[in-house]
Amino acid sequence: MSLVLRNAGRLVTCDQELGEGPLGVIRGGALVAEKGRITWVGRDRDAKSPRGATELDAEGAAVLPGLVDCHTHLVFAGDRAEEFGARMRGEPYKAGGIRTTVAATRAAGDQELTALALARLDRFLGFGVTTVEAKTGYGLTEAEELRLLRITAALEHPVNVVPTLLAAHVIPPESDAATWIDAVCERVIPAARKLAEFSDVWCEPNGAFDVEQSRRVLEASRSAGLGLKVHAEQLGPGGGAALAAEMGATSADHLEHVTPADAYALADAGTVGVLMPGASMLTAAPYAPARMLIERGVRLALSTDFNPGTSYTENLQLMVALGCGLLKLTPEEALLGVTRNAAAAIGREDRCGRLKPGLEAAFVVLDSRSEVDVAYHYGVNLAATVVRGGEVAA
Ligand code: NIG
Ligand code: FE
Repeated sequence: MSLVLRNAGRLVTCDQELGEGPLGVIRGGALVAEKGRITWVGRDRDAKSPRGATELDAEGAAVLPGLVDCHTHLVFAGDRAEEFGARMRGEPYKAGGIRTTVAATRAAGDQELTALALARLDRFLGFGVTTVEAKTGYGLTEAEELRLLRITAALEHPVNVVPTLLAAHVIPPESDAATWIDAVCERVIPAARKLAEFSDVWCEPNGAFDVEQSRRVLEASRSAGLGLKVHAEQLGPGGGAALAAEMGATSADHLEHVTPADAYALADAGTVGVLMPGASMLTAAPYAPARMLIERGVRLALSTDFNPGTSYTENLQLMVALGCGLLKLTPEEALLGVTRNAAAAIGREDRCGRLKPGLEAAFVVLDSRSEVDVAYHYGVNLAATVVRGGEVAA
């Protein structure tokens, strides 16, 4: 039940109050966990092991909080390798490709979808990710969206799963926008209130829903007690970021086409900006203006956007490298984007994303002496040991 981590060359708390620099690093650090929670962090020489505690020796390595992927489309069947190939030959990304995944997902049974999601969570965990937000959105009928949400909420895995309803992902193949938005607001959202933590909408006048339709979804979601998220400004400027700020959404995600005025509004509202450089990279889309957002006070998280259309990877470490190389973030900004700020993007800053007493005992011992290697030594898996809930999970 108790665990002590000794001899961390750099214990990266991601809390400035607990250590040096923007990442709150404790050099020569240690951590004590009891009953799955962190009870103490400090210098190794001051550490006291509780009786019978399991000891883990970091052997001088850097230790990070368990990574948080705050935006994934986890539950789906099939793949879109052909669409990917066509895109690489020059075709643009079209939201219509989502229909291929919708057809495959509807055709898959609960067990198959569960097995696929669990295998993906295994991969996330192997990369040091201990909390994953997971959206529906490939069902697109009332029954199918609720089935995907039930499957998501029932996943049993060491990774914490945060279920999000994305019934308003795109217009269903057999419906129209107005009819579907009515169904989502009047029936799907009320039925989702006990299963989902968040509700999301793709605000994209060219391919999904306009601002008025998106506002209705967010208002219904708020009335149902769900946290709010918006896929905003992805394919073009669409008013989604301003709407997210107006509605006090927890996060506004994508933001490739966000404007300086939007940025001030997001900063004022305390809405976290979630950037997904992998999706831009593999759809030949512009990169979100990360520095512009930071300069205007927006808190930034980074995510894989794990999905079969625009970004098919569970490697959140790679997003730290892409955040630096493509979005021009510093390693510290990028690392905060997959820890503390990612936790804020799913309303869990008091539960995960930092190594702080009271929070979940979830951490990654790196195969490296420096946390900067997550960006610098890129494309490989630097997670040597992953602890979640105070127990070694990978
Ligand atoms: O976040 N923007 C909408 N949804 C996904 C793409 C989903 C898909 O193509 O299957 C995204 O990029
Ligand atoms: Fe997405």
